[in-house]
Parts: sequence; C-alpha cells; structure tokens
Amino acid sequence: MSSPGQRPPGFGFYRPGQPSAGPAGGAAAVEGEPANQEQQVLPEGAELDLDADGVSAQVEQSLASVETDLVGLAGVKRRVREIAALLLVDRARLQFGLETSRPTLHMSFTGGPGTGKTTVALRMAEILHALGCIRTPRVHTVTRDDLVGQYIGHTAPKTKEAIARAAGGVLFIDEAYYLHRADNERDYGQEVIEILLAEMENERASLVVIFAGYPDRMRTFFSANPGLSSRVPHHIGFEDYSHEELVQIAEKMVARENFRFDAAARRAFAEYLTHRMAQPRFSNGRSVRNAIERTRLRQARRLVELHRPLTRDDLITLTADDVYGSSVFDAATEDRTVGDRTAEDREPAPQVR
Ligand SMILES: Nc1ncnc2c1ncn2[C@@H]1O[C@H](COP(=O)(O)OP(=O)(O)OP(=O)(O)O)[C@@H](O)[C@H]1O
Ligand SMILES: [Mg+2]
Repeated sequence: MSSPGQRPPGFGFYRPGQPSAGPAGGAAAVEGEPANQEQQVLPEGAELDLDADGVSAQVEQSLASVETDLVGLAGVKRRVREIAALLLVDRARLQFGLETSRPTLHMSFTGGPGTGKTTVALRMAEILHALGCIRTPRVHTVTRDDLVGQYIGHTAPKTKEAIARAAGGVLFIDEAYYLHRADNERDYGQEVIEILLAEMENERASLVVIFAGYPDRMRTFFSANPGLSSRVPHHIGFEDYSHEELVQIAEKMVARENFRFDAAARRAFAEYLTHRMAQPRFSNGRSVRNAIERTRLRQARRLVELHRPLTRDDLITLTADDVYGSSVFDAATEDRTVGDRTAEDREPAPQVR
C-alpha cells in the first residue's frame, strides 16, 4: 500500500520502466529512486481529464491505427478497446490513490489460420507498452520446440531462457496446445506449463503471456489445464474473414507494397478468392498474402518478357493476366492444384519483431 499523500510509483502491477521505456515510464518514479520522485495523490474534489492525458492520446492513436489498418475483426477491436479502457481507468484511479488489484493481462487468441492473431499481438504489445504495462513493445514468439527439451533436465532451462528473452514484453506461444499431450502425463510439455504458471504470477517479471491457436484445440487445452485457464482472463476470438473482407485485405496489402490492381485484375482477384476459399487449407489473410506474392511473380515475368522500356505505371500495375495465371483457376485438375497450393500456403508466417 502506498503511504497517504503519495502516489504509488508506476502503474498497478508494473514495475515502472526506465524513463526512456515509454510514455508511462517518464511519469512514473523509477524503482529504487527516492520518494521525492513520487507525485501527490489527487485530492478528493479534483478532476482528471483522460482526453488531456498524453498516455491516453498515445493509446488512442494505437487504437485508431488498429481500426484503420486492420479490416473487419469488429469483435477483436472491441475487446482490445475494452482492455485499454480498463487499464486507462485503473491508471486514473491510481492517481486518486485508489488501489486496485493488479490487472492480469494474460490472454488467449483463438482463431483459424491467417485470421490476424500474430498481427493483433504486435498491436496489443504496442498498446500495453503505451500504457506502461510492459517495458518494451516487443513480442517474443515461441512454439513447443522452443520450450520443450528433448531430454530430462533440458526443458526447464529452455523455458526459462524463452521467458527471460520475453521479459518485460509479450511472450506469444503459438499453437500452445502442443504443450499438452493428453496421452502422456510425463510429457515435458507439462513441465513448461508449470514453469509458466509460476512466471505468470510473478509480478516482477512484468510479462504478458498470449496463448494462441485454433479454437477447438485451445478449448481442449484450457479444459485440461484449469490452473492455466484461471490465469488467463482475456479470451479473444478471431473469426474467419468474409469474401468482401479478404478483398479489402488484398487491396491494403497491394497498396502498402506500392502496387495496384487495375479494374480487371480487381475482378479477377475477387474471382480467385471465391475459388480459393472453397478449397482445402485456406488460410484467410495468409492465403491472400501468398496469392499476391504469386501475382507479383507473374507480373515480373510478364514485364521482363516485354523487352521494352518500362514506365512507372507498368511497374505498379497488376493485371488480370497476372491473377489468372494462378493454378487455382485450373478447376479441372483440382487434386493437383490443391497440392501445389498447399506448398504456397505453408510459406512461413511473417516474422514477429
Ligand atoms: N484484419 C486484417 N487486416 C489486414 N491484414 C490482415 C488482417 N488479418 C490478417 N492480415 C494479414 O494476413 C496475414 C496473416 O495474418 P497473421 O499472421 O496475423 O495471422 P495468424 O492468425 O497469426 O495466422 P496463423 O494462425 O497462421 O499463425 C498477415 O500478412 C496479416 O498482415
Ligand atoms: Mg500467427
């Protein structure tokens, strides 16, 4: 508890970072520094304008860019906003000396392949950092292989190393259910879960863990590990995208890379998506990204084969031919094309910073 008249250093459960760690770091007292760094608690009748607060403004900016950069995801965006609002209000309460129990920020992101889980984790880390909840906006992504050792005694050091690398930021555990093997109680994955449980309670670690994966398997994983489930208050579900949303995602990706579809290519790409969505291993945004990369390859080949000087317009325009070159349109040879595309969709997901 803080002494009367003084604001507790930092915000809630967080150890305030170095002053350079983020906007909240500057306002908070640095651990170990004398009490004169601490600010007065606001008096009873005082008012606090959230809109005038620099941290709120920065958080609002991050939320706004989530709104504009990401297509659809209405439910996810609402949850992200709710979490940010809760933390902002906790922060305001603290300035009035109102102690609140430490917010638990561990989360689960469940959704099909390519629905934006990794992308939103990066944005969430930025928001949590802006709020001073974590010292760095970094996301350290791991899977079972990064945590589980092959031999007895190897798992704990591996897991602890991953936790140490993520400390102060977000540990993103992709396909978390692989940590649990229902058929083998002695599986080393269980050891990982136990270490995580301890670290997730450890305030000093200032670590936020996000468990990610496909919904049905995550449900089984959490029901098999109730201790874990009870420490993860925020479950966020990611829906598959509609055809229209995928078209918009494609437009954004193309524009971001300084390309554009001409009118016929736009129609062709919408047609492509209709076919691709009906086929196996469709991976939402990831399939869109892969399809655009393939389209760019065909554009490049077309341009090289033109053997004439190229204009800026040539270089930025993707045409219907570039799209129709895809094997997805070979409807008659379904099995073969599915095989080809599987390789296409297994390209590694974008690297997490
Ligand atoms: N709502 C969206 N708006 C714009 N682009 C998106 C959206 N959702 C996903 N993408 C893009 O789709 C691709 C895949 O997204 P991401 O890697 O975040 O999905 P994921 O759910 O983590 O996938 P996986 O389950 O395969 O790990 C990325 O290039 C991402 O930028
Ligand atoms: Mg991912």
